[in-house]
Amino acid sequence: MALSGSRPERLPVWFMRQAGRSLPEYRKARQGVAMLDACLTPELAAELTCQPVWRHGVDAAVFFSDIMVPLALAGVDVTIEPGIGPVIAHPVRSADDVAALASRRITDGSAITAAVRMAVAELDVPIIGFAGAPFTLAAYLVEGRGSRDHLAARSFMHAEPAAWDCLLTWCARISGEFLRLQAAGGAAAVQLFDSWAGVLSLQDYMAHAAPYSRLALQAVDVPRIHFGTGTGHLLEAMFECGCQALSIDYRTPLNEAARRVPGAVLQGNIDPAFLAAGWSALEAHTRDVVARGRNAPAHIVGLGHGVPPQTDPAVLTDLVSLIHEL
Ligand code: CP3
Repeated sequence: MALSGSRPERLPVWFMRQAGRSLPEYRKARQGVAMLDACLTPELAAELTCQPVWRHGVDAAVFFSDIMVPLALAGVDVTIEPGIGPVIAHPVRSADDVAALASRRITDGSAITAAVRMAVAELDVPIIGFAGAPFTLAAYLVEGRGSRDHLAARSFMHAEPAAWDCLLTWCARISGEFLRLQAAGGAAAVQLFDSWAGVLSLQDYMAHAAPYSRLALQAVDVPRIHFGTGTGHLLEAMFECGCQALSIDYRTPLNEAARRVPGAVLQGNIDPAFLAAGWSALEAHTRDVVARGRNAPAHIVGLGHGVPPQTDPAVLTDLVSLIHEL
């Protein structure tokens, strides 16, 4: 309802990374199972999707998976290493590497659709599907792992514009297919994660990233949320990629975002740092975020980025209750 731009009676709330290491039941269920194996085991992925709804009473479940899953399904040699994150065995560093990648397709994504379908059957709240934006996926493929400034990816973008176009077109197709697999299982909305887009100038974002994000978002017709961090300079351009909602990180106040992108439903933007700053600081900050969010057509309350692993789950449960009272 909030995604259609109207205000439900109760403020809706969910958190990125609400499923995960902050929950003891998650750590128990994941024992001895590699991250990507967990994502490709429908019963387990469905259970991990439901856990935070059962515990916290949030108003949506984000599907338990990872932005790297569609790459793995397309046969890319990728692992998710504990404490490191995604690691690509053979980074993409030349036009030939891109050409070799471009022929790969997802041949069987049935585990994804099955997992979403199981979670939908378990829960009364909507399931939010997601995918990595083409730029963020390409940044991993070129760098081989996480990076602070994504220098190799940005150099490749300017050195080999034709190969970059081919790489991002492929990423858009893979991400779009991942979104479609989740929508087919009953995901009520999707979110496109462009976690690293903030390293791009507006000019580079518009020329070398946004057209491909638009392509990925076009793959489904359920409501779409566009997420970035450090993307205060890109808000208008991100909204123009074809979405109903923008997820705003904690650096941009929601009243300012509402003024700049008037038609957008806003999501966010509690600073995750407040989760460990004591209840009175968290409560005051949350009330401020909600008050500023009243300037938007609708507001889905959440964090500006993911739940930190060391978060006390009881704080999240209390936060959900507070938001529902506001
Ligand atoms: O609860 C949820 O949010 C749903 C599941 C989800 C995961 N990853 C599970 C996960 C979602 C939506 C993602 C998205 C994702 N994955 C992003 C975009 C969001 C963002 O944070 O900016 C990115 C960049 C990735 C890539 C990725 N996967 C990284 C950087 C890491 C390591 C960081 C970490 O927290 O460990 C992962 C691993 C990962 N993805 C874990 C989980 C639960 C931890 C896996 C483990 O502990 O074995």
